[in-house]
Amino acid sequence: MKKWFAVIGNPIAHSLSPYMHDTWLQELEMEATYIPIHVEEGKLEGAVQALKLLGCSGWNVTVPYKEAIIPFLDEIDESATHIGAVNTVVKTVDGKFVGYNTDGFGFIQSLGPIKADDRILMLGAGGAARGIVHAFKQRGFKNIAIANRTYANAEKLVEDLQLGQALTLQEAEDNLELFDIIVQTTSLGMKSNSTTLPIKLNKIKEDAIVADIVYNPLVTPFLEEAEKYNVRTINGLGMLVHQGALAFSYWNELNPDSDEMILRLTEQLGGNYVNR
Ligand code: ATR
Repeated sequence: MKKWFAVIGNPIAHSLSPYMHDTWLQELEMEATYIPIHVEEGKLEGAVQALKLLGCSGWNVTVPYKEAIIPFLDEIDESATHIGAVNTVVKTVDGKFVGYNTDGFGFIQSLGPIKADDRILMLGAGGAARGIVHAFKQRGFKNIAIANRTYANAEKLVEDLQLGQALTLQEAEDNLELFDIIVQTTSLGMKSNSTTLPIKLNKIKEDAIVADIVYNPLVTPFLEEAEKYNVRTINGLGMLVHQGALAFSYWNELNPDSDEMILRLTEQLGGNYVNR
């Protein structure tokens, strides 16, 4: 039988994952396909049963099911357990369904070469930040501060992951010159018309890297602001592609071409924006 993969979520129509994975499958001449599946609210358990019954070899999980899927899987790997969220499900040779989380590692990969002693400032303490902080921890990074609108949520993340230091957004803004890498994960990044920024950047180091996990728009209001300071900026497309490539490698034991895919998707999203 032709192998098939999927992504489940709600909404799912605008997901770029089917294009990305289908392109890679074709490029690597694999007899397989990847389809988007819209899962109605309250129907997750049935959808997972159907995926298993119909022979799906593995699937991605996106909003809002990354946490809710956990009880329906046979095993969860260590990273996904700590993060409390799964974005990739792999069917093993003995028919078990195992959950992984490739988001955080995908994000770190999108930064390119960085040093383990780089000082990192996370803006936001939600689910996305949790995955990324955990991946930084796994990779041996120690200098991490988490700044959040609700300080208690930053404190909780520090406590849960036993790493870093909690800050208010104001403290982050006032001490911005201390950080080499600034990662914007708050929901503010998604409002394309918004000019509201989580913090001001006037104290940024000239060799800092500013990353946003959002890829649509390619240049978020936060990255637009960062560009005014002429620092290196990185949008969320790299994270999307690298998390997908890692999932692809778990399923197929092959590494697809991520760099080419970032260029193609940038073009599709109407950008000529290249990370500097
Ligand atoms: P995700 O899974 O994308 O991380 P989330 O878990 O809902 O989404 O987290 C959203 C993050 O954006 C949180 O850190 C949230 O801050 P609070 O903990 O204070 O809610 C942050 N956020 C949302 N709206 C914000 C705003 N208007 N200003 C600053 N931070 C905001």
